[in-house]
Amino acid sequence: MKLKFNHVDFFYGTKAPYLFQALNDIDCDIKEKSFTCIVGHTGCGKSTLIQQLNGLLIPSKGSVFAGDFIVSSNKKERTKKLKPLRQKVGIVFQFSEYQLFENTVEEDVAFGPMNFGVKKEEALKIAHESLLKVGIGESFFKKSPFDLSGGERRRVAIAGIMAMQPEVIVLDEPTVGLDPRGVKEMMLLFKQLHEQGTTVVLVTHDMNLVYGYASDVIVMDHGKVVYQGGPHELFNRSVDEYSLETPLVTKLIQGLENKGYKFDLEKIASIDDLVDEIVKQRRTSK
Ligand SMILES: Nc1ncnc2c1ncn2[C@@H]1O[C@H](COP(=O)(O)OP(=O)(O)OP(=O)(O)O)[C@@H](O)[C@H]1O
Ligand SMILES: [Mg+2]
Repeated sequence: MKLKFNHVDFFYGTKAPYLFQALNDIDCDIKEKSFTCIVGHTGCGKSTLIQQLNGLLIPSKGSVFAGDFIVSSNKKERTKKLKPLRQKVGIVFQFSEYQLFENTVEEDVAFGPMNFGVKKEEALKIAHESLLKVGIGESFFKKSPFDLSGGERRRVAIAGIMAMQPEVIVLDEPTVGLDPRGVKEMMLLFKQLHEQGTTVVLVTHDMNLVYGYASDVIVMDHGKVVYQGGPHELFNRSVDEYSLETPLVTKLIQGLENKGYKFDLEKIASIDDLVDEIVKQRRTSK
């Protein structure tokens, strides 16, 4: 599903002096089947932006096109029933671990499919499959979500969105606070979903993740999109311009290039890839 923002403004509050403009003339798109990362400093509008993608927030001006759905400030243009869009574009919120509410883990995950008309038995089956995919084993299925750790609860929340089999999965800072192994496992899960054809939209502050996984990057600043393009172009030329951290791999590559190495950036997604490439180049230069 293609997603397009068409000159979107968004204001929190309804009346001056309480109005706050969180989005300012957003005009960009998210490519179908891309792995798009959205980055930018705290308060720049990332969470506000993603909530327009499935109509949880409605633009104050302009429109969002999500496949055949139109989420517009203009009531006449807006798609009447937005509920089906929420199945197609699933959002895992920031701090999603606090949003579980059912008595058991399996019921929490089955809630989404049941809400969209799937019978309980089938919904539980889907829930179990989703839970196993996020690394939550059978022994957890009948536990209360409140007896789980924060990281486990977040996995359950992700399973809840995956169980709806959305075309687009939007994840707002899902790796915050996880240990390095947890981060890696979670990123591999998103990579797998992407490879299976899901469009992945990931909000993150971690430029190493952007370097390793993104096909496309959107940089926001004070409610505006200031960059849209590929990760390599961003990290090689413009990080300073947007005051972003340089990913570790980019720093290493730049240092090595100063010493005469040359790299095909498309082939290097991680430190491991870089090490392999160095070994290969040293072998062939002998
Ligand atoms: N419910 C609200 N009412 C009024 N202002 C809000 C509300 N939610 C967010 N804002 C303001 O809108 C701006 C954008 O907030 P948003 O949560 O989208 O930022 P963000 O980029 O996701 O930040 P972070 O990286 O901290 O999650 C901020 O200045 C914030 O204070
Ligand atoms: Mg946010």
